[in-house]
Amino acid sequence: MCGIIGYLGKEPALPFLLRGLKSLEYRGYDSVGVALVEEEKFISFRKKGKIRDLEQDLTDFSSNSCCGIGHTRWATHGVPSDRNAHPHFDCQEKVALVHNGIVENYQSLRAGLSLEGHCFRSDTDSEVIAHLLEGEGDPLERIFNMMKRVEGSYALCIIFQEEPDVLYGVRQLSPLILGVGEDSHFLASDLPAFLEDTRRVVFLEDGEVVRVSPAGYTIYSSDGIKKDKPVVTVPWDPVRAEKGGFKHFMLKEIHEQPQVLEETLMGRINLLDKRVCLEEIAGWDGNFERITIVACGTANYAGLLGKIFLEKLARIPVEVDYASEFRYRDPLIGENNLVIAISQSGETADTLAAVRLAKEKGARVLAICNVMGSTLTQIADAVIYTRAGIEIGVASTKAFLCQLAVLLLLALYFAEARGIEDEQLEREKILEELVSLPRQIREILEKEEIFQDLAREFYLLKDFLYLGRGVFYPLALEGALKLKEISYIHAEGLPAGEMKHGPIALIEPDVASVVLVGSGETRSKVIGNLEEIKARQGKVIAVSWVGDKELEKKADRIIFLPPTLEILSPFLAIVPLQLFAYYVALEKGCDVDQPRNLAKSVTVE
Ligand code: F6R
Repeated sequence: MCGIIGYLGKEPALPFLLRGLKSLEYRGYDSVGVALVEEEKFISFRKKGKIRDLEQDLTDFSSNSCCGIGHTRWATHGVPSDRNAHPHFDCQEKVALVHNGIVENYQSLRAGLSLEGHCFRSDTDSEVIAHLLEGEGDPLERIFNMMKRVEGSYALCIIFQEEPDVLYGVRQLSPLILGVGEDSHFLASDLPAFLEDTRRVVFLEDGEVVRVSPAGYTIYSSDGIKKDKPVVTVPWDPVRAEKGGFKHFMLKEIHEQPQVLEETLMGRINLLDKRVCLEEIAGWDGNFERITIVACGTANYAGLLGKIFLEKLARIPVEVDYASEFRYRDPLIGENNLVIAISQSGETADTLAAVRLAKEKGARVLAICNVMGSTLTQIADAVIYTRAGIEIGVASTKAFLCQLAVLLLLALYFAEARGIEDEQLEREKILEELVSLPRQIREILEKEEIFQDLAREFYLLKDFLYLGRGVFYPLALEGALKLKEISYIHAEGLPAGEMKHGPIALIEPDVASVVLVGSGETRSKVIGNLEEIKARQGKVIAVSWVGDKELEKKADRIIFLPPTLEILSPFLAIVPLQLFAYYVALEKGCDVDQPRNLAKSVTVE
């Protein structure tokens, strides 16, 4: 996955491009490049490395060009290197483009173009597009012809030397948004790239082409028909895309959790009549034969908790699948099924493919998503937004918490719609306690230094197990994922009850186990697992409730949480796991916001 940007306006383009690229760097950060049009020629800079490296090269460079494109790369075809960095050009350097996506048939296209005499200067799939656009005639026509030949996904910003003050954007299965400013237009993979300049946007759809000129913009469908599309004002605050005094976006986003949880719940709970209102699915009766949740990574673990919420409260059978597995197992799914796709970005290729398959099979699709106008929100039948605001840290934190909130609300909503009895007034209690969670999360965050100390003590260990049962099992998976992705320490999440079926063989003094101990019916069993680990000299960090004297004596370290209902405990327990992973990564000197080999949204399969 990569980030692309284009600028056309009245001011010099370069500062806009560099600033935009910095906010897109979460999408890829192994190489970077820009191209500007100056006196009907392209000037370009391309570099292996990060944007700050490119900026150093540009210290003594200035340009008045008001039209340019930029790219930040996460390599798929061709190693990270100066020559593989974008922008790419045709043979005569008359077409410059930046690309996000994958050209699936690039090998055959490249072979054909080479036979025709085209000369390639990189190992990328993207360069074939520049050569396909080479030639004479109306640039727009050349773009439409190129689209007929390229298979795969592409978002493109293109400049033709013959039209030096025109910027083209093309979207096909990769995100591209048009930002409409006062005297300027932007094209970008994601909103933060231009949010400081405008919040007025047009969400482009697959197959669309936009031509931006000083006179304004025109949008075309792939068959060349002009289209009118609404300009939407996005509610996101540009400040959310800044670090705001925090050392890393991840830490800032962990700290935003009380606020974004409040925002996600806002207007969706009526405490007077103890009801959940989800206007997005008004009229849905919840009478589905089965629900299938599809998602990847952290969103998938939120889905595992969603299964517990939905089965327990709404009594609907739920299965959870990795989106990448769902689509290749010929799933039994039909009209009476609901598929819930969970995705922060709304652009994860596997999740989108799973949704398309589910729709083909006639299922209804509900998206739980954080990004307005993303592809997922365009193809789902209904969308419930998570309102987490822009999430920039590659490791997902606040989006996960908001996904849990939406899933819980959904379960309560379906429970009522289906007329499930609530004799023990459990649902009422959940709603009452739910609104206290933001305050309780703040209490945990106020004691942040505990996690710093804990990290100092444990960061040199090479193996961690995370153990939990019931609602704590998905959290164990998520806690382990957080640790491994940002600190590169091997960590595994396991259902605590499975320990004795194999993993206990791993226990030795250098292995630490994070044991999530609930207050529910499996508490004594999990404590039993903890003791088995201690008996084998393993180290134990326990997570439990304030005042749990019993555990204090048994674990090496204990993290206390404010008390809440068992079903709500993941909302609190996740915060220490995020903070622990963050501080371990910090102790190890890792690049927390841009961990190696990872990109924020995975738009390739
Ligand atoms: C982990 C993480 C990833 C994403 C996964 C799905 O911290 O961020 O595992 O959760 O790539 O991404 P979305 O939610 O954008 O579909």
